Amino acid sequence: MKIGIGNDHSALELKAEIMDFLKEKGHEVVDYGTNSAQSCDYPVYGELVARAVAAGEVDQGILICGTGLGISLAANKVKGIRAAVCSEPFTAKMARAHNNCNILAFGARVVGGELAKMMVETWLNTEFEGGRHQRRVDLIMEIEEKEQ
Ligand code: RB5
Repeated sequence: MKIGIGNDHSALELKAEIMDFLKEKGHEVVDYGTNSAQSCDYPVYGELVARAVAAGEVDQGILICGTGLGISLAANKVKGIRAAVCSEPFTAKMARAHNNCNILAFGARVVGGELAKMMVETWLNTEFEGGRHQRRVDLIMEIEEKEQ
């Protein structure tokens, strides 16, 4: 799978750990930055990854800021994006199985590397269940259409 990853200054170390993990698992990773420790604005990187996912340049996205909140909020403004902030594997699993999320977000100040890797693995290995969940995801996306 081709995975886009983006982060702010708070998540440089965790991003590197996750990128190594993804590559070990055989995934292709596209790094949208930041790669500087200088304080930066997380919406920039949230939008870059979200647009890459929405355009089909990458299959899925991973976003990391201090909490996962700001960067996912930015990503969710891009049409077609469903970004979920998770801090444990059960929610990460459901984010795919029921919500068909195309971006997983988490906080470098919230989760450690091992927990983050468990979430990433669970999320990537879980299929969307469709059925009644497709109807609900469609209803979410209809809200987006009403905003155009
Ligand atoms: C940066 O200090 C911090 O606000 C950011 O990483 C993130 O947690 C915002 O939601």
